[in-house]
Amino acid sequence: MVSEQDFIPSAYTNTVANGNFEWSAPSNIALVKYWGKKANQIPANPSISFTLNNCKTITKLGFEKKQSSDAFSFDLLFEGQPKESFRPKIEKFFERVAVYLPFLNNYHFTIDTQNTFPHSSGIASSASGMAALAMNLMSLERLLNPEMTDDYFYQKASFLARLGSGSACRSVKGSVVVWGEHAEIEGSSDLFGVPFTAEVHDVFKDYQDTILLVDKGEKQVSSTLGHDLMHNHPYAERRFAQAHENLSALKAALTLGDVEAFIKITESEALTLHAMMMTSQPYFILMKPNTLEIINAIWKFRAETAIPVCFTLDAGANVHILYPENVSVKVLAFIKDNLLGYCQNSQYLCDKIGAGAVLIA
Ligand code: DP6
Repeated sequence: MVSEQDFIPSAYTNTVANGNFEWSAPSNIALVKYWGKKANQIPANPSISFTLNNCKTITKLGFEKKQSSDAFSFDLLFEGQPKESFRPKIEKFFERVAVYLPFLNNYHFTIDTQNTFPHSSGIASSASGMAALAMNLMSLERLLNPEMTDDYFYQKASFLARLGSGSACRSVKGSVVVWGEHAEIEGSSDLFGVPFTAEVHDVFKDYQDTILLVDKGEKQVSSTLGHDLMHNHPYAERRFAQAHENLSALKAALTLGDVEAFIKITESEALTLHAMMMTSQPYFILMKPNTLEIINAIWKFRAETAIPVCFTLDAGANVHILYPENVSVKVLAFIKDNLLGYCQNSQYLCDKIGAGAVLIA
């Protein structure tokens, strides 16, 4: 089994003075949710997600060898402009990954990042952002150690991304990714995401995710705090066990093309996630009235048409609407006619299952 030690490199064989890379990494949407963690970003339960295609972070990493190697040194740009408010997050990330990337304080970095989705959309950019940064850092490590295998490259990128933000480890690869040890997923690990290698039925291959932007405001409670509230949570143990059961059932549904089972598990996971928030101490609610309006409208539409459309939620008020490609004309018409009134400024994003991070330059 792969351990943390395996990601501590031995001395590098090459030296590199300067250069730059550019990677894009997508967001992902969990079907079985990660909610609750142990020390060092170890998840309390396994999760599984669809990697997205259109909602991405694109990050350029410039690097230049410096004289002294005492402290981390980097400039941070967002859409080409200095962005001081991102510094603490990156500083913390560098501290967490330094032992795995001993070259970090030998270089001055310029990190220039942008998202393909509007920044105040309430779509978390931490998953795509940390994954894109991790890919760039691995490209630099590969220059220092050209012997590195592709498997190691991607596994360690996911490992590093996890240390930035847990769900980011599921944004390195496509199109269905599992993170966290699970008895029925071979090679699954708490340390990094692994591609789901069991057969995925055709019906799920072009799955669509239309994201309804219900509330773009700052969340009252961050995910990191929410995870913490699973310690001493009255339902934690049962919830963690349930995630294992749901992942088993979802694995079977994905392979068999059992859309009905998929809907049951996915919607129940979304509501369970929010139920955990509502039953923690302190308790909180991230859904908005319009989140519930949308959920009810989806249930009504599904009952009337038998079209297999369902919803999931992340840690916020926005609704992800999931459905097979072959019903997209009908579902999009339904969304436009019935749901956009519940969105802030009628805003929504069309996404679908995607293939993971891409090297641009
Ligand atoms: C509800 O990955 O954002 O989206 O590890 O503290 O950065 P940190 O948390 P984060 O949590 C995501 C939680 C979730 C469910 C999921 O994506 O599995």
